[in-house]
Amino acid sequence: MPRKGFSNFDDYDDGFDDEDDAYDYEDDIDIDIQEEEAAEPKEESAQQGIWRCAICTYDNDESMSVCDICGVLRHPVAGNQSINQNTVEGRCKESVVSKLAKSLFESVPSSTPKRAALDLPEHENLVMEQGISRGNIHDLHKAFSSKSACVSIAPFKFDAPSPDDLVSNGLTSSRSGSKVPRNIPEANADTTIQNSASTKQKEKQDSAEQNPLKKGGDNSLIKGGSGGIKSAKSLPKASNETSSSSTNMEASESLTGTMNKMSLTGETKNSNNIKTRIPISKSKHKPEEWMLLDLESDTLRQLNLAIVGHVDSGKSTLSGRLLHLLGKISQKQMHKFEKDAKLQGKGSFAYAWALDESAEERERGITMTVAVAYFNTKRHHVVLLDSPGHKDFVPNMIAGATQADAAILVIDASIGAFEAGFDNLKGQTREHARVLRGFGVEQVIVAINKMDIVGYSKDRFDLIKQHIGSFLHSCRFKESSLTWIPLSAMENQNLVAAPSESRLSSWYQGPCLLDAVDSVKSPDRDVSKPLLMPICDVVRSSSQGQVSACGKLEAGAVRPGSKVMVMPSGEQGTVRSLERDSQACTIARAGDNVAIALQGIDANQVMAGGVLCHPDYPVSVATRLELMVLVLEGATPILLGSQLEFHVHHAKEAATVVKLVSVLDPKTGEPTKKSPRCLTAKQSAMLEVNLQYPVCVETFSESRALGRVFLRSSGRTIAMGKVTRIIQES
Ligand code: GTP
Ligand code: MG
Repeated sequence: MPRKGFSNFDDYDDGFDDEDDAYDYEDDIDIDIQEEEAAEPKEESAQQGIWRCAICTYDNDESMSVCDICGVLRHPVAGNQSINQNTVEGRCKESVVSKLAKSLFESVPSSTPKRAALDLPEHENLVMEQGISRGNIHDLHKAFSSKSACVSIAPFKFDAPSPDDLVSNGLTSSRSGSKVPRNIPEANADTTIQNSASTKQKEKQDSAEQNPLKKGGDNSLIKGGSGGIKSAKSLPKASNETSSSSTNMEASESLTGTMNKMSLTGETKNSNNIKTRIPISKSKHKPEEWMLLDLESDTLRQLNLAIVGHVDSGKSTLSGRLLHLLGKISQKQMHKFEKDAKLQGKGSFAYAWALDESAEERERGITMTVAVAYFNTKRHHVVLLDSPGHKDFVPNMIAGATQADAAILVIDASIGAFEAGFDNLKGQTREHARVLRGFGVEQVIVAINKMDIVGYSKDRFDLIKQHIGSFLHSCRFKESSLTWIPLSAMENQNLVAAPSESRLSSWYQGPCLLDAVDSVKSPDRDVSKPLLMPICDVVRSSSQGQVSACGKLEAGAVRPGSKVMVMPSGEQGTVRSLERDSQACTIARAGDNVAIALQGIDANQVMAGGVLCHPDYPVSVATRLELMVLVLEGATPILLGSQLEFHVHHAKEAATVVKLVSVLDPKTGEPTKKSPRCLTAKQSAMLEVNLQYPVCVETFSESRALGRVFLRSSGRTIAMGKVTRIIQES
């Protein structure tokens, strides 16, 4: 049943009121769809008082100097255009830029190779962050009409590994060694070592020295990891493990490579083939008794808590301080962090160093991958996911957010810093909040940090609350699901106890941060459904051929001895052992963040971005999908043929927009315009994408966790939505 408001996105949550559901974009949508539709059939040459945009071909009013749809400058300027120049065809005769525009608007047959990576080194500055640079149409003309300039169509590929790829994929950057799994028993000297394993081993030892948390004893904090997550991946018995993070780039390449080569019909045990299975309807799945929650013996509920927010807002400092106050970091360890941080001239980062472990993170003073730590409250086993705030590492933040049940959104209260973080273009506060909402996170604790810098001012707190509050409401967070906490991580105010600072306690009588976390409701889990665990990281033991898949169970339950299937390869094996928070455990249920050691499975078939599932209920693997998306504020127009990054759970794939199906009414979700020429910011729409290689995916109605998607371009999240239909299964 269609729902009111942004009903098409309502399904992110169940409990939202319809009134709250309206993303407030509709108030300022400045595109008159009716007008646009009316303009469409007009014959351009016959139109007086209009000019046609060379890029999106929209007929603009004579008075407009930039295109009303895509913002491109009018060219030639008003009063100097001929009818022919106003048309795409006309322009094509004159300049190469129109060829570009034309090529963008040509319909793309699904078999057409990826298009439009422009090989124009001399003019690369012209192809700006947002695809076509606004206001630079003259330069573009010059560039494209220059004789030396040639437009070559190269297949789309992601940029050369970005810093976050280097980290999340564990590639060794020039400045730091590769990440290694933490909490792994020291390697035996006599075991076979993989390429570069000695370097990794050294780093493991070094970093184990730096952070005693990682060595045996207190294992509350776990690092290493991929998909940008330093995940729990300790294997009890293995001697020489490498996390997929250490070879993740290879792994992701081999994932796509392997998937590319896979025969879809093969039934053999050949590891390069996907074994076809006829899935049984999930409604037939009968959970065994052990799978269901034992409410009596297990009183603490699992809560996956993401810490997000703009860069430098104090997320890691807050996390480190919290862990220290809760006894998860000993005084001795803290001393060492303080001493080492001071030595590097970064004394203020001592608490952050508990989470920011790598040399590069410490040197740069920023978090690059998601750190995972554990602590308990009265009601929860909390899995803390400390995310990076820097814009270069948003994909890593997404990897953390995909596991979150709730979040702490950290805001820097200091003058100028809040404003910078909240800036629509340069700040990450809004993007992080949207990502959370997109992943169905409803409960958010807004921690307004660094209150010490603003003298614990109530006025400052109220102002920030007002701005962030109205933005969060526009993203359809319910007021009742938000908790506002003023605090200072640095001065330990309002973290685990009521503030001692009178300037704060004089006006704030609410809960402290720890109590607020304790009050979060842990969501209902799909324990009775068949197993589904998107794999965020893989730990391999080279000596024993052992492999562990790490991630959060989205549905079902497993225990040692359970049969499992790894998709997309279709390999089947058995669960050998389980670990949660570095401790062996006997059962993992939906919501648990675990490392699952597998046996009987070719280790090369287990990859980050894949999914562990019940052998009778394999997840879908697909290349062509229908999506319902909301184009985010500030995004560049999405055109037919647009090349985007497609994100779903821990998988990332190159995607081409192959069909713009319709623009939807934000209130009713009904189509208002079929086959639009482009999708612009704030519009919700149906579209179809072709993925370069298949990914494990489900429709949103089948599995929320595997049906939520993000589209990114030029380092920005430009749209979020859900899979409404799998058009082509692999
Ligand atoms: P990224 O992970 O890179 O996004 O940064 P972050 O949000 O984790 O910030 P981090 O914890 O690294 O802290 C950044 C700086 O803010 C450090 O210098 C901290 O000492 C400082 N800081 C954090 N919390 C507070 C606070 O409550 N008061 C003051 N005065 N400074 C703080
Ligand atoms: Mg940090």
